[in-house]
Amino acid sequence: MQVLDTIQELTQQNRQARDDELEIRLAAQRIDFDLDQQRAQCAPRRPWNPAPDSPFTVGARELPEIDRAAVSAETLGNGVHHHGAIIVRNFWKPSLAAQYREQIDQVLDEQVRFDAGEATSSWYRPPDVLLNHRFCRYKGMGRQTGSTWAANSPRIMFNLLEEFQRMGLRRAVEEYLGEQSLLSVKKWVVRRVKPLAAPANWHQDGSFMGKDVHSINMWIALSECGPGTSVPGLDLVPGRIDHIVETGTDGAVFDWSVSAKEAARYLAGDEVLQPHFNIGDAIFFDHFNLHRTSSGPAFIEPRYAIECWFLGVSNYPERQVPVLW
Ligand SMILES: [Fe+2]
Repeated sequence: MQVLDTIQELTQQNRQARDDELEIRLAAQRIDFDLDQQRAQCAPRRPWNPAPDSPFTVGARELPEIDRAAVSAETLGNGVHHHGAIIVRNFWKPSLAAQYREQIDQVLDEQVRFDAGEATSSWYRPPDVLLNHRFCRYKGMGRQTGSTWAANSPRIMFNLLEEFQRMGLRRAVEEYLGEQSLLSVKKWVVRRVKPLAAPANWHQDGSFMGKDVHSINMWIALSECGPGTSVPGLDLVPGRIDHIVETGTDGAVFDWSVSAKEAARYLAGDEVLQPHFNIGDAIFFDHFNLHRTSSGPAFIEPRYAIECWFLGVSNYPERQVPVLW
């Protein structure tokens, strides 16, 4: 049986009767597959073409905003292509966001029990394939920062994929990427992060995923955050950047991060974009977006969020560890 058929069957079974072991098997099945074989079965990529000019009535260095009903390959693609990112207001209802804040609490509580050898549920149970994977080894990740891979929690993974399906996300994402999409173990993260003690590093995710990946990232704010709140949001360099900027110079902390001086060059005198997100608002951008988590004395409360990258199968960066969905 094809791996996607097996996934479909296990998903159906789990919908009928939720089961911890079934969810753990399902999570493992989504990760333990042959990427080359998957690529070979896919239709060739049909690249999506952006509109020659932005269809949004905002400046090139401002962010367009749409409502959830307007989400499509065109709106997401043109937002990213012409402005570097696009905000989707009311992407999730506040009540749904509240459910996921509770779920993230359950995941992180169960993580503590798992690390003590006392976990009893699929709220936190990294699939065996991840415990000793050639590209990622389990190290009780994120205990200090309050973030973890969705793949470490077969239950939240299942729940989120059900959500993605209900929202019809695949169509918009795959039309935009022009091909089948895969998720990533490392780039699908649920967070309840504490405010930062020091400014975060500017970065483009393409600096470690590769400049040629086909990507779109969905970041959903589960807390109200940004200016005017006590919860840190995101700092973004405005406007489209279509290449990887220089990393590791002028005192940048990591070889993949971008120094404040280099980021200032791309700001070109403009202010850092610091959107205000209501609960359930989302932002979409790709691997060229230059951003970081906000920090500052006003931000004193933790922020819940979900980050999920969709990556085209044809040149999938294998080190990010593909997830079938
Ligand atoms: Fe990032």
